[in-house]
Order: sequence, then structure tokens, then C-alpha cells
Amino acid sequence: MGVNVLAFATSPRRHGNSETLLDALLGAMAAEEGVTVEKYALNEIEIQPCRGCNACEELNRCIIDDDDLDWVLEKIIAADIVVMASPVFCMGMCAQAKALVDRMQVLRSRKYVLHLPVIPAERQGKRLGAFLSTAGQDWDYVFDALIPSVKCFFHVMDIKNRDISYLMVNNVDKMGALAAHPTATTDAAVLGKQMIEEIKTRLAGEEREMQKGDRTEARDKQAGTEEDRKTEPQRDETA
Ligand SMILES: Cc1cc2nc3c(=O)[nH]c(=O)nc-3n(C[C@H](O)[C@H](O)[C@H](O)COP(=O)(O)O)c2cc1C
Repeated sequence: MGVNVLAFATSPRRHGNSETLLDALLGAMAAEEGVTVEKYALNEIEIQPCRGCNACEELNRCIIDDDDLDWVLEKIIAADIVVMASPVFCMGMCAQAKALVDRMQVLRSRKYVLHLPVIPAERQGKRLGAFLSTAGQDWDYVFDALIPSVKCFFHVMDIKNRDISYLMVNNVDKMGALAAHPTATTDAAVLGKQMIEEIKTRLAGEEREMQKGDRTEARDKQAGTEEDRKTEPQRDETA
């Protein structure tokens, strides 16, 4: 059974603290059988800020057609696990991460204005999300302000709050501070492994349901054949 993991490293500082945390998670995920991991650094692709035009309410796509959103959205929809890593910038997520969150407005329009499915019914509940973050300050509440935006990001792509995992490490400011943290990378690796186990269980449930569906269909066909035989007009021997 294949598992597709899609990850976004959103910090403008490549290979900094949040991306190092992300890499520990993704490394553990990739080590599991059948897992494909794709990571994109938002600093290296182009996701422009939302223009707030609401054209997506009619077009079912974003009016901005000269950046990378379209293929990113396709990958978000196809993924079994979506992961975002962002540093705390001025008590929120960094601008690159927020631009991606805001551009998910296309999915919100699809879902709530156009009443179209975002994810097919059979994949509902079979997707997981994770949000990783790092902050320089040691305040306990340093991550609080960005959580509602994270929930918003996952909500519009049909990943429920209960299916979002969080790993947030404060008091890591300088480049390399995360790698020197006593537990952070191990915690990320443990979370990565747990998430793969969880998604495999859910996807196996889906396969079992599909197999059950196939058996039911075969039984129905068989019953149909027998029913057809019973109702088949008998040959009139006298004709
Ligand atoms: C523009 C900017 C704003 C920041 N604002 C905060 C903040 O409000 N609170 C905090 O704890 N750390 C803040 N930091 C520190 C970063 O969150 C911290 O260094 C983080 O680990 C950086 O992760 P990165 O290396 O992945 O970019 C800020 C850093 C920058 C560059």
C-alpha cells in the first residue's frame, strides 16, 4: 500500500530550525515501507498572496494563473498526509506559509459556495495533517496565535482538527539551535513513524472496504444472474 506525503518548508531561511525539524519527521516517514515523500520549499516556488477578489467563487480556481498554486493544489488533494513547517514570525506563521494558507480560499469556495467536493467521499477521514513550528522565545504561549490559521488550512482540505498533529519547539533561535535541542529531532521521528502507522491502518480499512465492496458486487452480479435465469422467458416449444 503506497502512502503519499506532501510537505512544505515555509521558512525563508533554508535548512533552518523549522526545516530541520521537518526533515527529521520526513526522514522517519520515508524510512517506512511504501512511503513517498515530496518536500517543497516555498522560498523556491512561487505562491503569490491572495488578491481577495473572490473570483474563485465563480471560476472554481484562482484567478492568478502565473504562479505555482495549481499544481500545488493538485498535490494537496492527492496527498495522504500534508505537513507544513513554519517558524514563528511576530507571533504568527511566516508570510510564505500564510500566503499558502490564504490561497486555499479556492478550496473554501469550492466547498461552501459552489458545493463541490474537495476530496472524494471515499477518502474522507483517510488523510492526516501535521504542523511543525519553531520559535526563538521560550514563552509557553508563543505558538497560540498561529493555531487558528493552521486549523483553517487543514479544514478546507478536509483534514479534521482531530487528524492534525502538532510539534512545536520554542527557545530555538539561532541557525542550528534545533539540531542541538535534546529531544526535538527524536520527537519528530517518533511522530513521523506514528503517523505512517496511523495512515496505513486507515488506508487498509479503505482497502478492506473496497474488497468487501467487490465481493458484494460479485455476489449481486451472481444473484442477478440467478434472478435473470428465473425470470428469463421460457422457450415456447410449441412455437
Ligand atoms: C522576522 C522574524 C520574526 C520573528 N518573530 C518571532 C516571534 O514573534 N517570537 C519568537 O519566539 N521568535 C520569533 N522569531 C524567531 C524565529 O521564530 C526562530 O528563530 C525560528 O526558530 C526560526 O526558524 P527557521 O530557522 O526555520 O526560520 C522571529 C524571527 C524573524 C526572522
